[in-house]
Amino acid sequence: MKKKRWIGMLLVFVLLFALAGCGATGQAQNEKKNETEATPQTEATKTETVETEAADAVEKNTGDGKTLVVYFSYTGHLDSMAHWIADESGADLVRVTAKEAYPEDYDETVDRAKKEQNEDARPEIDIDLTDEQMAEYDTVFFGFPVWWYDIPMPMYTFLDSYDLSGKTVIPFLSHEGSSNGANARKTIEEHAVGSTVRFDDALSIRGGEVDSSEQAVRDWVDGLGFGK
Ligand SMILES: Cc1cc2nc3c(=O)[nH]c(=O)nc-3n(C[C@H](O)[C@H](O)[C@H](O)COP(=O)(O)O)c2cc1C
Repeated sequence: MKKKRWIGMLLVFVLLFALAGCGATGQAQNEKKNETEATPQTEATKTETVETEAADAVEKNTGDGKTLVVYFSYTGHLDSMAHWIADESGADLVRVTAKEAYPEDYDETVDRAKKEQNEDARPEIDIDLTDEQMAEYDTVFFGFPVWWYDIPMPMYTFLDSYDLSGKTVIPFLSHEGSSNGANARKTIEEHAVGSTVRFDDALSIRGGEVDSSEQAVRDWVDGLGFGK
């Protein structure tokens, strides 16, 4: 008899616990539901903010570092393009020249350039830029005339002399037919070690059209989000 009552009481307890448990679970579920209802809103707001900040950063290039325009030019086209880019973006401007200047005679220069390429030479360069200064830049506009379907060898010297890792490199070039820079893309990607080369965004202008392209160059800079 005692045993039966005990079992009966146990059953009542089990029933009460089960009911209480259900209630608790129900409450937890409700809380969870409220949480999930609240979560998407919070998350959405967060994402939106991050996205907006990212978009602003792209739009205005609000990276911490500075922007550099570095270029080589023989007959002056890249010199013009580089000046417009620097002026439009407010970037610093540095010219690379060969220590042993290229001859004024065009054909002699063509021959020397070919020889240097065949020898995979690294002509010594004159450049007003220390390693410490280079470290301050996070974007480098990299300008060159196509020489023998590639970048001029002094620009190899430049790429091999400086640490460009972590930087964004944006090429701009001039040519007389090799509008996509031919081998230049591969060269820059291989020699600007550790950088992100935005060759798909590169600006390429035929030599004879450079003089009338100031606005196009400025628009390109603005379109990339580097306008002042
Ligand atoms: C040595 C040399 C090699 C050249 N090789 C090429 C070439 O392979 N493909 C091309 O389209 N233009 C070639 N060009 C033409 C130049 O890329 C073009 O004239 C460019 O606009 C020159 O820029 P700059 O005035 O800044 O020197 C070459 C010019 C020189 C002097």
